[in-house]
Amino acid sequence: MKNNELFLKAAKKFGTPLYLYDLRIVEERIKKVEDALKNVEHKVFFAFKSNSNVHILKFMKKMHLGADIVSLNEYKMAKYAGFKPNEIIVNGNGKKVEELIYYSKEDVACVNVDSKEEIEKVPKDVSLRVALRINPNVDAKTHPHISTGLKENKFGISLEDAKDVVHSFPSNLRLVGLHCHIGSQITDVSPFVEAIESLKKFVTEQNLKLDFINIGGGWGIDYLKNGNEMDLGKYKQEVVPLLKSFDLPIYLELGRYIIAPAGFLIARVTEVKKTAFKNFIVLDTSMSGLLRPSLYGAYHHVEFLSNGEKITADIVGRVCETGDTLAKKRKVPQPKVGDIGIIYDVGAYGYSMSSNYNLALRPAEVAFDGKNFQLIRRRETFEDLTRLF
Ligand code: LLP
Repeated sequence: MKNNELFLKAAKKFGTPLYLYDLRIVEERIKKVEDALKNVEHKVFFAFKSNSNVHILKFMKKMHLGADIVSLNEYKMAKYAGFKPNEIIVNGNGKKVEELIYYSKEDVACVNVDSKEEIEKVPKDVSLRVALRINPNVDAKTHPHISTGLKENKFGISLEDAKDVVHSFPSNLRLVGLHCHIGSQITDVSPFVEAIESLKKFVTEQNLKLDFINIGGGWGIDYLKNGNEMDLGKYKQEVVPLLKSFDLPIYLELGRYIIAPAGFLIARVTEVKKTAFKNFIVLDTSMSGLLRPSLYGAYHHVEFLSNGEKITADIVGRVCETGDTLAKKRKVPQPKVGDIGIIYDVGAYGYSMSSNYNLALRPAEVAFDGKNFQLIRRRETFEDLTRLF
C-alpha cells in the first residue's frame, strides 16, 4: 500500500487525530543500529520516555532490546510489557530513597547514579549495581533544552569530581559501569568522539575494572528531510573503534533514532483562514497532541493529501495560545476543510509528551505491520477526563 493510501485508510477507519506507527520502519531502524554496531559487543536499551505505548514496548522486547526507564511508573510499565528486571536500566536525576530501595529489592540490571549526593542517599543496607553518570562537559551542538552533557546542565558528575567518587564507593554499591548521555537529536559524530575519548582516558587513568560502558542515546534523525541524520558510516569509522578500545560490552539507550521516523500524526483540516498578513491552516490536533514545535520550535515535515494551488501558510492547532503553531511558513497545496494533513517523524516524544490542555482528548494510536492495522490505544473520551474527580 502506498503511504498516502495508508494514511487515508487509517483516518477513515480510526478517525483523526491519529498517531500511526509503521512497524516495518521500526524494524529497519533497529537493523541499521545493529549493523552500525556489529563489530562491537553491545546491547541496546529502548528509551521509554520517547514512546511508552505498551504495544510498542512489547515490540521492542520482541526485537531483543532492553528497557531504559526514568521513573517508577516507567519501571512498572517495563515489567507490565514483559521485561525482566535484569533487562532494565534505571536512569534519572533526584531519585527518591524509597525508589532506590525498591530497585534494590527488584534486583534491576543497573541504576545510573547521577551525583555523589545520590550515592550518599542509598541506605547502607541497600545493595545495588550502579553506573556513574559522567557529565563530560561536551557540546552536543543540539537544541539547548535537549543538551545534557555540559557542565551547566543538571545531569551527571564532572570527571574532576568522579575521580574521588570512584575510589570511595560504599561497599553496598557495586560500581559496574560508567554512563554518559550528552544530549538528544545529535547528527554530528564529533561530540560522541569527544565524550567517549574522555571516558576512555578516565577509565585508563583511574584503572577502573568495569562490566560495561553505557554511552546513552541521542542519535539524531532527518526531521528536515535534507538527508542529514546521524551518519552511521562515519559512526562506524570514528566512534566504533573507540568503543572497541574499552574491550567491554557497550550499552546504548536509544529512543528517537528507532521510533521517531516510524510515527505519523494524521489530522484533518478544520479551516483554511486567510488574512491580509498570513494564511493559516487549522488542524484538529494542536500543541496538546504534539508539543515539540511549540516547546522547542522543532521542525516537523508536513504534507497534505490535497491538490489545490500551492499556498504558504502557518499550520496551527485550535488551542488558545499563539504558540500553538505546528509548522511555520510551509508551501503546501491549499487543502479543503476535511482534507488530511500528515505530520512526520512523531514516533518519539510525540504522544509521550501530549497533554489534555484545553481539555483536548488524546489521539488514538494505531500500529501497521505491513498488512494489518491494530488499534494499540483507544482515543480518549470525555469520561476519561472526569475519571479523577
Ligand atoms: N538516555 C538518557 C539518559 C536520556 O535522558 C535520553 C533522552 C535518552 C537516553 C534517549 O535519547 P534519544 O535517543 O531519544 O535521543 N523531548 C525531547 C527529547 C528529550 C530527551 C531526553 N532524554 C524532544 O522531543 O526532542
